[in-house]
Amino acid sequence: MLPQVASLILLAATAIAADLPLPPPMPAAWPPTDEASPIPENFLKDPLVTTALAYVQATVPPQYLNIPPSQYKSPCVATYPADTAATNCYWPNNLCVRTNDTAGFKADVVSCPGDNVWGLTYDDGPTVNVVNGQNQNDTPSLRAALDAMKLKATFFIVGANGLQNPEEIKKSFAEGHQIGVHTWTHYPATSLTNAQFVAEIKYTEAMIYNATGSLPIFWRPPCGDVDDRIRAIATALGYSTTLWTTTPVRDSTDADQTDASPATSQKIVDTVKTWFTAQKSFISLEHDISPFTSGIAINVLNEVKAAGANFPLKMMPVGTCLNQPFYRGNGTTPTSSTSTAPSATPTSVSTSTASSPASPSPTSGSPIAASAKSAGEQVMVNKVAAGLLVGVAALFALAV
Ligand SMILES: *[C@@H]1O[C@H](CO)[C@@H](O)[C@H](O)[C@H]1NC(C)=O
Ligand SMILES: *[C@@H]1O[C@H](CO)[C@@H](O)[C@H](O)[C@H]1NC(C)=O
Ligand SMILES: *[C@@H]1O[C@H](CO)[C@@H](O)[C@H](O)[C@H]1NC(C)=O
Repeated sequence: MLPQVASLILLAATAIAADLPLPPPMPAAWPPTDEASPIPENFLKDPLVTTALAYVQATVPPQYLNIPPSQYKSPCVATYPADTAATNCYWPNNLCVRTNDTAGFKADVVSCPGDNVWGLTYDDGPTVNVVNGQNQNDTPSLRAALDAMKLKATFFIVGANGLQNPEEIKKSFAEGHQIGVHTWTHYPATSLTNAQFVAEIKYTEAMIYNATGSLPIFWRPPCGDVDDRIRAIATALGYSTTLWTTTPVRDSTDADQTDASPATSQKIVDTVKTWFTAQKSFISLEHDISPFTSGIAINVLNEVKAAGANFPLKMMPVGTCLNQPFYRGNGTTPTSSTSTAPSATPTSVSTSTASSPASPSPTSGSPIAASAKSAGEQVMVNKVAAGLLVGVAALFALAV
C-alpha cells in the first residue's frame, strides 16, 4: 500500500513539476561581466532562471537540494563545513569524486577510458589579446595552433568572457572544437544558492546556444568546487560534471602561478612534457585565460609537434574521448525534455532584447593578472604556501 501511495505522490509531483524549457528562453539582458561578484539578484528573476529553478526544485531530491551552501572566501576558496565535506563529497576535501551514477546525480567525469588518450581541455576563455594588430597568446592564437596540428579540444567557457568575445565561441564551434559551460562568473559553485547556481549554468548555456545553436551537456565546476548539491542541480539541468585527472596530476597549474616569467612558463612546459609517455588515458587542465596561460598551452602544442612520430598519445576533446555526444541531440538540433516545449530555433531568438556588454575590451596588461579571478587565485596560492589555512571550520584551498 505504502509504495503505491508513494508512487502516486511522486506522479502527482511530476505532473505539477514545470518542465525545463529547451532550448532556453533568451534572457532579457545578460548579467554583468564582473567576475568578482555573483550574478546580481535582479537577473535571477528572468524566466530563463525561474523556469529552470522551478524544474530543479521539483525534481532534485531534497536531501541534495537542502545541503547548505559553503561560505565564499575569495575567487577560488570557500569555507565548507568540515563535518559534512566527506558526506557530501566536496571535491576540495581530498579530491572527492563520485564515480557512479546515483538516483540524484550523474558520476563525475575525471578521465577518458582506455590508454594513451589525452582529453584536451582549456578553461576560462574566450579571451582576445591584440597587440599591434596581431593576436598574441589568446583564444584565437591557441585555436590556430590546434588547427595547424588538426587537433580539436574542449573549451569550458566563462559566460562573462563569452559575452565580450561571442565571435570566438562561434569560430571555435564552427571549427569543431567543443564548447562546454564553465559558469558565468567563475564563482565557487558550492558558495552559491540554488537560484544563483542555476543562473550561472543557464545564462552561460543561453549564451552558447545563441552563438552556436547547440546546447552542451558538459560543465566544469570553477576551481573544482563541487559537492552533491551542485552535482544534483547540474544533473537536473542536463549536465555531466567534468573535472580533470588528478591521479596522476594532469593540471598544468598554469593558472596558479604568482609570477608570469619565461622561467615559470618553461618550468610548466617541462612538467607537461613529462606526460608525453604511454599511460592510462587522462583529461588535462589548461587555460586560455591570459597571455601567460595561453602562451604555455601553445608551447605545449609546439613540444607535441616537435616530438613527432615519437609522441605516444592521441589528443582529442572530452566528448570524443568518452565516445559520447557533447551536445543535446548530438548536434545542432537540441531536443526538448518535453513534447510541449516551444520549437524555437537559433534564429527565433534574435528578436530578444539584450543589453550591451558592460566592458567589451579584453585585458591586455600584466599577463597573469588578466582577471580578478587570477589575482584571487594568486592570493589563495600564497595562503597555501604560507600554511595559513587553519581554522575552526576547514578552509579548503583550490588551485585551479
Ligand atoms: C560503482 O560501480 C561499480 C560497477 O560498475 C562497482 O564495482 C563499484 O563498487 C561501485 N562503487 C560504488 C562506490 O558504489
Ligand atoms: C553524432 O551524429 C553524427 C552525424 O549523424 C554521427 O556521425 C556521430 O557518430 C554522432 N556522434 C555520437 C557520439 O553519437
Ligand atoms: C544572439 O546573437 C545575435 C547575433 O548572432 C545577436 O544579434 C543577439 O543580440 C543575441 N541575442 C541576445 C539575447 O544577446
